[in-house]
Amino acid sequence: MAFKHWPLVRDVRFAQKCNRFLRGARKRRPELNWEEFHRIARHFKTDDMGSFPERGYLFQLASDQPADAQVVEVGSWMGASTCFIAGALRGAGAKIFAVDNFQGLSTCGEDSAWYNRHFQKLGAKSTLEIFQKNFADLGFTLRAEPFVSDSLAAAQTLAAKRGTIDFIFIDGDHSYEACKADIVAWAPFVKCGGVIAFHDFGSRADGVTRAIFEETKAGRFAEIIGVAGTIIAFRM
Ligand SMILES: C[S@@+](CC[C@H](N)C(=O)[O-])C[C@H]1O[C@@H](n2cnc3c(N)ncnc32)[C@H](O)[C@@H]1O
Repeated sequence: MAFKHWPLVRDVRFAQKCNRFLRGARKRRPELNWEEFHRIARHFKTDDMGSFPERGYLFQLASDQPADAQVVEVGSWMGASTCFIAGALRGAGAKIFAVDNFQGLSTCGEDSAWYNRHFQKLGAKSTLEIFQKNFADLGFTLRAEPFVSDSLAAAQTLAAKRGTIDFIFIDGDHSYEACKADIVAWAPFVKCGGVIAFHDFGSRADGVTRAIFEETKAGRFAEIIGVAGTIIAFRM
């Protein structure tokens, strides 16, 4: 095991990085519940799907939603990003529809190889149970509705929700064609003035960058509202 993965070393590195991030975050947005962010971050301290600035930005975007907000996440994996969103939502009616095949099925070649390795290590065929356990451990079960489905099939099943969603986070299939199809399928779900955000803009997943760039140029989104790491967010 690499030195940085030794439990004690990992915990010290986590505390240093998290505290550094929180010092800045508390200055920028002192009114947000960063204690809750910290609780969720501790739970996911071994997760490597996002950086502190990215997780913090998701938490901030979700905090800025109205009470009882309706959220869709495309690509939830084990629920880390989903929990950062859930922890910031307010109101008993707030809900996240977490759309994922929960099997790491993807048309993006690099991602498929990565998922295969991870599923071998997990010794499981799906991440749904892990997703549900993470939600239960953090007390968010009532906020989540996992939707076990291919993204585009889910967009058809949930068609009645078009124009009603406050916030969508897309982090599913990272190929150009799939990301483009996700934008076309899911952007109409966001209500006017709502937010759509993407992971991996400007990352090595260049298909994602290209798809978002083309859709931005074509006027799909009203305005860019922020960037943190490889997350980019737009108002519709
Ligand atoms: C990068 S992971 C999501 C990570 C998660 N958002 C986080 O930050 O913790 C991408 C997820 O998208 C899912 N996925 C890929 N293609 C999909 C598709 N066409 N439909 C549904 N889910 C898909 C995979 O199963 C995987 O769980």
